[in-house]
Amino acid sequence: MTSDARLLTALRNAGDSFSSISELAEKIGEPSSRVISLLEDLRKLGFTIEERPHTGFRLVATPDALLPDDLKSRLKSKIIGGEILVFQETESTNSVAERMARNGSREGLVVFAETQTKGRGRMGRKWISPKGKGLWFSVMLRPRFAPTAVTRLTILTAVAVSQAIRDTTRLDARIKWPNDILVNGKKVAGILTDMLSDADTIKHAIIGIGVDVRCAPQDFPPEVRAIATSLEHEANAKFSRPELAARILSLMDVYYAKAHGRFQEIVDEWANFSSSLGKRAHVTVGTRRIEGTVQALDADGALLVRCDSGRIEKIVGGDLVLERAQG
Ligand code: BTN
Repeated sequence: MTSDARLLTALRNAGDSFSSISELAEKIGEPSSRVISLLEDLRKLGFTIEERPHTGFRLVATPDALLPDDLKSRLKSKIIGGEILVFQETESTNSVAERMARNGSREGLVVFAETQTKGRGRMGRKWISPKGKGLWFSVMLRPRFAPTAVTRLTILTAVAVSQAIRDTTRLDARIKWPNDILVNGKKVAGILTDMLSDADTIKHAIIGIGVDVRCAPQDFPPEVRAIATSLEHEANAKFSRPELAARILSLMDVYYAKAHGRFQEIVDEWANFSSSLGKRAHVTVGTRRIEGTVQALDADGALLVRCDSGRIEKIVGGDLVLERAQG
């Protein structure tokens, strides 16, 4: 951790209490003179640090900008967030993370961008990423399960994103299998999982996450305006992007540990958040249209649909369309 991140951690851990320069110096292992200049740097970055004469300093407010040190100081993760990069602009955070994975980066790398010029969605779709209005980021992992179980990553991420949205906004976030997060029936977030594998090992997986935090309806292209929304628009309130980002990463870290051996616990969480479970739906896989009732998730994250004939179909990918209730 950098000195800035250690200082922010120390201030955060102190909560509402004031810490003296010498206490802070001891906590972060730096001389007092360095602490004074670090406090000044943090103020320049937009942190509000209150000073009370003869008592000390405390953190009062943090900026909405995505800053690696701020994000790190909010995390207690074991793997995810070991390295955090923030770009002001990039083509696609998935592409940056992919390049870094090929060059040997450690799993847990997280790449954010304030805006993307070529953001990608599933099925070759474009993903709009207006500057500062959302969370556009990718997490690189090297899971030890088989490539056939890669959907577990999308599922655990969907559960983490939904839970984090609920925790930070109180909105009723729901998962539409496999990768959409909905609020009031409209999409607020999407997940795009890419992987490089051979027959039985995943070399690396890149989980791309896009969360529309404060996009206005006119930010979306006309063709998706009816089905897309943002958290602030739905709640009519302001939210902190770093707080939401850190919550997502912390939960992903917990669920990633469970994905090796205790995936059923994630499946149980998923069932609580699913917008599709028990509903009539159809999905097109290649040229086949499968129609039935959404039954469950299997141990690898595939969707089990009970067809009208009673046969259970296992669906690994595709666009699920929920049928409207009749009557
Ligand atoms: C979808 O719902 O179709 C998936 C959208 C995924 C978007 C994110 S934004 C960060 C990352 N970089 C990309 O180019 N795409 C993903």
